Amino acid sequence: MNRAEFHELRVLAASRPALPLLLHAGRLARPLRHVPRVGWVTADAATARSVLTDPEHFTVLDRGGVGRLWAQLLGDWVDDLFDGEGHRALRTATRDLFGEAPARELVERTIGARLAETRARLAAGKPVDVAALGRTLVGRIVTELLRVPVTGTDDATYEKVFATARELAAISLEAAGGADLTDETVARGRRVVARLTGHVEQEWRTGSTDHLVGRCREAGLDAHQTAGMAALVGVAATETAASAITRTVALLHDTGDQHKLVASPALVPDAVREGLRVTAPAPVIGRTVRGDVELAGRRLRAGERITLLNYTANSLTGGFRLGRPAEPANRELWFGAGRHRCLGSAIAQAEIGRTLETLTSVGRPWRIVERRYSRRVVIPTYARLTVTLV
Ligand code: HEM
Repeated sequence: MNRAEFHELRVLAASRPALPLLLHAGRLARPLRHVPRVGWVTADAATARSVLTDPEHFTVLDRGGVGRLWAQLLGDWVDDLFDGEGHRALRTATRDLFGEAPARELVERTIGARLAETRARLAAGKPVDVAALGRTLVGRIVTELLRVPVTGTDDATYEKVFATARELAAISLEAAGGADLTDETVARGRRVVARLTGHVEQEWRTGSTDHLVGRCREAGLDAHQTAGMAALVGVAATETAASAITRTVALLHDTGDQHKLVASPALVPDAVREGLRVTAPAPVIGRTVRGDVELAGRRLRAGERITLLNYTANSLTGGFRLGRPAEPANRELWFGAGRHRCLGSAIAQAEIGRTLETLTSVGRPWRIVERRYSRRVVIPTYARLTVTLV
């Protein structure tokens, strides 16, 4: 095992001790296996893609775990927003807001100045904790996307927004474990949702349609549903992107490929793609079988669960390497596929790309002076990754 793989393994193990085993032993789940008490499991990119692109037979709705939590936190109407007509209307109405050009503009406007400060700090020989930077950058973007009212403009303000979204994600992981949802968990979840989206009803009344919340109103979502959508975006947009930023910086260092990137900044999009492939920050995707179906030669029955090992499927191509040709089977599988493909993929790529540009723009490679893995988090990542330029 090389240095980059060693640290990635420790990142996974720190988040949840069983995760490395699941993701590595998961290689055996090709094309498809049935595992007692878990259900169907696949680590095969083509099989995973056919599940994701077959809404007739597979649904994101899961009345047992996370789905039940969301329904209790927000109301039974979430089913329609997550996978019904409301979902289709929302995706159609907001498509242009999440395109490449608006994503680049949003990212530049929201984090451009903060990254310029980071560049100056690095150029002056000072250390930068990329993990903390990632959290605050992502916090800034989510604050702007959802118009979260904040009073400060410093990093601590945006780290707080990040922490709220992380808290909500942690509650959904508890629910995914299948344990009974206690009244206390539901009450705690409602308090966190209120902190993240309590402002949305007011914003929904007045917000312009150039903006996500106003656009939801235009698409026919009521204020309540719009707040639910905001909670979903808050959870989806934060830990994933911060993890990808931080782990990609570590991978570039640990493989030595940062030298190539510093010499050829045009490779940034390549580094973003490889970082997303190797880290696959949404490592596992779940679905429920909606109706009996044949998949990879096996018969799946309505109501069964299927787990897609996204991390494993993407990492089978090999370790992080700039210049690696794209593998057609797992093309952007790290963002999912089909009607639930990541809505914020252009924003995520712009955030990671701008951060890498900042790091390489001084023209010197970096060294890691402190590294700490995040313990017991939903999305594996670093708690600290402090770098200085060499
Ligand atoms: C590196 C960063 C990210 C990764 C790896 C990622 C990955 C994913 C994946 C795999 C899915 C599909 C889940 C499924 O099929 O069950 C998804 C859905 C989603 N993502 Fe992302 N995501 C990232 C960042 C973001 C950002 C920045 C936003 C918002 C600005 C966002 C918003 C969403 C939303 C709203 C969905 C649900 C889409 C739907 O159900 O129609 N994500 N993401």
